[in-house]
Amino acid sequence: FHVDMDANETDKGTYPFYMLKEIDEQPNVMRRLAQVYLSETGEPVISDKLLNSMKQADRIYIVGAGTSYHAGLVGKRLFENMTQTPTEVHISSEFAYEQPILSKKPFFIFLSQSGETADSREVLVNVNAGGYESLTITNVQNSTLSREATYTLLLHAGPEIAVASTKAYTAQIAIEAILAKALGEADNQIVAQRFDVRHQLGLVATGIQAIVDEKKKIEDLAKSSFLNTPNAFYIGRGIDWSVSLEAALKLKEISYVQAEGFASGELKHGTIALIEKGTPVIGLITQEKTAGLTRSNLQETMARGAHILTIVSESLAKPGDDIILPDVDELMTPLLSVVPTQLIAYYTSLNKGLDVDKPRNLAKSVTVE
Ligand code: AGP
Repeated sequence: FHVDMDANETDKGTYPFYMLKEIDEQPNVMRRLAQVYLSETGEPVISDKLLNSMKQADRIYIVGAGTSYHAGLVGKRLFENMTQTPTEVHISSEFAYEQPILSKKPFFIFLSQSGETADSREVLVNVNAGGYESLTITNVQNSTLSREATYTLLLHAGPEIAVASTKAYTAQIAIEAILAKALGEADNQIVAQRFDVRHQLGLVATGIQAIVDEKKKIEDLAKSSFLNTPNAFYIGRGIDWSVSLEAALKLKEISYVQAEGFASGELKHGTIALIEKGTPVIGLITQEKTAGLTRSNLQETMARGAHILTIVSESLAKPGDDIILPDVDELMTPLLSVVPTQLIAYYTSLNKGLDVDKPRNLAKSVTVE
C-alpha cells in the first residue's frame, strides 16, 4: 500500500479497514510533524510563551486516558531525560478525584486525540479553577480540551477514524520528544542539545516504513500465536514496559484477547502463576541496560510452558528473535516497537472475523465520565 496523505483522508480507499490505513500513515505523519514543528536547521519551533511557561514549572503533570495515558508514560521518560524536570503521569479519571499534592509551580499537559474525553476535561476544569497553565496536545482543532487549555499543539495526524488509536499515539510521542528537546535546550541540558530530533524522526519514519512493509510476516505470526489464545502477555522494563501497556490495550480492544502489559521483573512476584502451556508472552527489548534481564524473565515463562516471542532492536538482537526493529535513539524506540503490536492486534482481529474499526462496547471518543 502506498499512502498518499493528500488523498481524501477520511476515505478508506483500497484498505479493508481504517486501522490498517492509519497504521500505514504513521511514516508520513512523522515526516509531517518534522515539517510543522522543526526549523530548516532541525530546531524545535515552539512558541516562546509556551516554553517560558514550561520553564517556570518545577514539575510537569501529564494527564490522559487509555492510549493517550500510555503516550504520557513515554513522555515522562522523554521529559525527565532531556529536561531534568520531574514529570508525573496520571490517568484522567483517577486524577480528577484523587488529585495528588501538587508542586509549587505545576504545569499540566493533556494528551487527547479527540480533545473531548470527559475524564480529561474534568481534570482541566479543576486545573483552570486552580489558576494553573496547561497545554493540550490533540488531533482536533477547537476541541473542548484545546479551547479550555492555555496552549495547544496539534497532532497533524489527519482524521483517526478507527476506534483503536494508532497514529495519534505515535504522533503524541513525537510531539513530546520535540517539546522535551525544546525545553531541555532552553535549560542548557546537554542530553537535549545532543538529541538530533530531526534525524531521529527521519530514522523513525524509515523504520516504521520497514516494519509495515513486512506486514505479511507479522500477519503469519499473529495467526500462529494469537488467533486461538484466551490470553497473552506483553512484558518489558522501563520504556518497554510503557509500550507493553499500549500493546496489550490494542490486542484487548479489537480482538478481545485478555492481554496484559507487565513489568517483566514483576512477573515472578505472582502473575507468573497464570502462565500455562502455550500462553503467548511477548518480550519488548529495546533498552540495552535491561535487555538481558527481560530475556531471562522470558526464559522463566518459557520454563513454565509459555510460547515466547521477541520484538527487539537490531543492536540487541540475537539469533531466533522474531521481530527486529531498526535502531533509533533508545528514547524513540516506542515509535517503532509499538508498530508490530498494532499489526498483531489488527491481524488477530481481522482473522477472527471481527469489526476491526468498530469493536464491541467501544466508542471513538468517551464523552461521559
Ligand atoms: C485507544 O485505542 C482507545 N480508543 C481509547 O483508550 C482512547 O485512547 C481513550 O479513550 C482516550 O481518547 P482521547 O485520546 O481522544 O482522549
